[in-house]
Amino acid sequence: MSTQQQSPAWKALEVHQQALADTQMRDLFAQNPQRFAHFSLQVCDILFDYSKNRLTAETLALLQNLARASGLEMWRERMFNGAAINNTEKRAALHVALRNRSNRPILVDGKDVMPEVNTVLEKMRSFCQRVQEGEWLGHTGKPIESIVNIGIGGSDLGPKMVTEALQNFRHPRLHTYFDSNLDAAQLNRILSIVNPETTLFIVASKTFSTQETLTNARSARQWLLEHLQDETAVRKHFVAVSTHTQRVKEFGIDPQNMFEFWDWVGGRYSLWSAIGLSIAVTIGMDNYLRLLSGAHQMDEHFRTEPLERNMPVLLGLIGVWYSNFWNTSTQAILPYDYALKLLPFYLQQLEMESNGKRVTRDGVPVEYHTCPVVWGTAGNNGQHAYYQLLHQGTQLIPADFIVAIKSQAHKYGHQNPVLANALAQTRALMLGRNEAETRATLGDALDEEYLPHRLFPGNQPSNILMYDRLTPEILGSLIALYEHKVFVQSVCWGINPFDQWGVELGKQMAAELLPALEGEANVGSYDSSTQGLLAFIRGLR
Ligand code: F6P
Repeated sequence: MSTQQQSPAWKALEVHQQALADTQMRDLFAQNPQRFAHFSLQVCDILFDYSKNRLTAETLALLQNLARASGLEMWRERMFNGAAINNTEKRAALHVALRNRSNRPILVDGKDVMPEVNTVLEKMRSFCQRVQEGEWLGHTGKPIESIVNIGIGGSDLGPKMVTEALQNFRHPRLHTYFDSNLDAAQLNRILSIVNPETTLFIVASKTFSTQETLTNARSARQWLLEHLQDETAVRKHFVAVSTHTQRVKEFGIDPQNMFEFWDWVGGRYSLWSAIGLSIAVTIGMDNYLRLLSGAHQMDEHFRTEPLERNMPVLLGLIGVWYSNFWNTSTQAILPYDYALKLLPFYLQQLEMESNGKRVTRDGVPVEYHTCPVVWGTAGNNGQHAYYQLLHQGTQLIPADFIVAIKSQAHKYGHQNPVLANALAQTRALMLGRNEAETRATLGDALDEEYLPHRLFPGNQPSNILMYDRLTPEILGSLIALYEHKVFVQSVCWGINPFDQWGVELGKQMAAELLPALEGEANVGSYDSSTQGLLAFIRGLR
């Protein structure tokens, strides 16, 4: 059994949870008119209101004890100093170096990585300028109008989410598309829209061996050559982002057109590296650097602030509080900012691929919950889909509301209703509506028989992260906030958040099954379900 659960800090939280088990948040608010002031924090132009949670000052102190007892300050220092904290892959996790706008030297194996980071940023700048200014020409001499990023996982979700969120900063001539799915339908749809003469493909893959990405990239190249009828066209229409020069060459992309990054950048932490090329080319390098600056500000806050006033620490610890002491198993992410509609999908990989682990760093099985299931959509749409369950279902579901005061759209005046809904939902979740209030509200309209249906238990926790209008800086800070939240939680759970061995088995079995689908292999050794399914597929072909 892992030692986390045996620690006095963990045990103290178990006892404390029992004392709070019947406490209603509405009573906590009534008892303390200063509750918002006590349980909110502003950092990097983001307001974090964590007052609508089942917690007191004592809860936070006990959670901070747990973080300290788990060595959070030590692990934080080791991460920022380039130690090989990703133990199973024997490497550092240094995404913070990619956005280290102060240029403070950061050493990996005794070597400062900042000069290399800055060289790649310069190469990206020159490329982005050439594309944006119409100097990078396609094979037939026309400027680029469409960018297609081919990648999956971290080589897709981050770039896609950010590019979508910062559409207001897009160069007016450039349209950017993201192709990730192995089903050719996605690529087909994109290729039916874009023009081969004016399209640039960015093949983004850390390993340059990912089946989905290479399959899609080969098909895209085939499509290009069918239209342009000249092998040399590939040079003008394909660039690569990878850590693996040899594989890029083998694919047929000129290493001159390759943007490098390093094994100490995890896939889901890579939008800050050249994997962010699709973002940079769409919104321009200056705006991309603003994104990096926002993340760097949050890094500095996380690195230097005491745990008590540290936003990623608080956000992470509140999550631990619910997962481990209230037994919750999911976490909702609810953006009230349409620009961030893809954020829940991005956070699914960030959180679940990082912390969806069942053994500690040393390989000891854990006996407590680690990462919750992360889910959500644009909040306003969710209200008309699954909020029913949040208000009257049987599960305790912590929710993060991410709220922009101003929309990316400057007209039509929808924003007051948006804000009213966001505030009302968190308030309704917290307060609920008891019998007396229901009677007073509904009066004669209440059908006695159906009274239980009209009651709201309340006491449902939520965080609010609120900012003015989303800018590249704020978005950078927000993403870094969640990255560090995930790190804080990993430390409390004693796990390595930077590997992802759980994705391997399915990949291996798919490779083994492919010959059976291509009709080459004997299917006798598979389980009866797989055999039956293979037979069904063959029957319909
Ligand atoms: O299969 C999971 C994963 O390895 C992710 O961690 C990664 O973001 C994704 O695949 C894509 O990998 P690559 O960038 O090497 O193609």
